[in-house]
Amino acid sequence: MKAYREVTTIVLNVNDEKRHTVVRPSDTLLRVLREKLGLTGAKPGCENGDCGACTVLLDGLPVKSCLVLAVEAIGRKITTVEGLKNTEIQQAFLEEGGFQCGYCTSGFLINAYALLEKHPVSDDGADREWLESNLCRCTGYEGISRAVEKARTLKAQGGS
Ligand code: FES
Ligand code: FES
Repeated sequence: MKAYREVTTIVLNVNDEKRHTVVRPSDTLLRVLREKLGLTGAKPGCENGDCGACTVLLDGLPVKSCLVLAVEAIGRKITTVEGLKNTEIQQAFLEEGGFQCGYCTSGFLINAYALLEKHPVSDDGADREWLESNLCRCTGYEGISRAVEKARTLKAQGGS
């Protein structure tokens, strides 16, 4: 990877838009998304890789954006929760009450979206393992599980 030593202008591909921004080499992707690009869906929680509130997709796979440097995301496809408008997972979380305070919700939405892309067929064990990387301090896991299953059904029906 190219070495970045000073403040640099970079271009990030976020939600299918090219976004120019100025970063320091040490800036995390989470910080740049929120503070430079105004995309505040990804949340700072532990900022240590434990809670998953900051989850975004990099080339379709979930990552904790507090652990990724912005410069590491150059040339990759970044998807934030703002890019999941009108998706089955968003609809299902609403219909099944997949949130309480909502702080963990964007991370769960992103992670569950990736889960359904990779595992369209229901598998309770695999679902639980996949979602283990995200924590809900309100312990709303039952609603989240129902929402994931509902979204899977909606996807299988081609959306509704
Ligand atoms: S804020 Fe990134 S994992 Fe908790
Ligand atoms: S809904 Fe409150 S932390 Fe999950």
